[in-house]
Amino acid sequence: MVYNSQMGGVFLIGFMGCGKSAVGVGLAERLNTYFYDVDLTIESREGMSIHKIFLTRGEKGFRELERETFSELAGRGAGVFAGGGGLFMDATNRKVIEGRGGLTVFLDVAWDVLARRLQGTKTRQRPLFRDLPQARTLYETRVGTYRQADITVFLSGQESVEEATDRVMDQIREVACAT
Ligand code: S3P
Repeated sequence: MVYNSQMGGVFLIGFMGCGKSAVGVGLAERLNTYFYDVDLTIESREGMSIHKIFLTRGEKGFRELERETFSELAGRGAGVFAGGGGLFMDATNRKVIEGRGGLTVFLDVAWDVLARRLQGTKTRQRPLFRDLPQARTLYETRVGTYRQADITVFLSGQESVEEATDRVMDQIREVACAT
């Protein structure tokens, strides 16, 4: 499939642990385009981890950085974009995607699978993760918004990253062919 700058970008969304960054790298390779990881960009610009940013600026400060960074990266043109699980929950970020004519892809991994992946996560790895019951509540409040994505790719969690990336590619192709 030929991916070009006329296409408005592919935006991977989904809850913590669904594989946005891992799939994003492979997807960008296959589409022969850039991969932008919003959280990694924030960390390298700020010179500190997301955890440290939460500690020093709070979630509000992090969300401001996330909005600024995302809008700047998304403005660069074609690419595959992955951010944290909260990025698509923000109406301003959703407007940026809409403005770019981007294609949103929800990596839909069932809660039980996410729970297995997130179990044992430390707050310093994921500041918004406290424990599984709290994370489940957060997941439930978000999943309806994630489902607004243009494409939902169901992943059982049994797939390798390669296979998951193939599944995403297949569905992108279907959409590209149908339009
Ligand atoms: C967040 C998820 C994290 C990170 C930050 C906030 C969220 O990224 O952006 O801790 O709101 O769900 P991952 O989804 O990559 O874990």
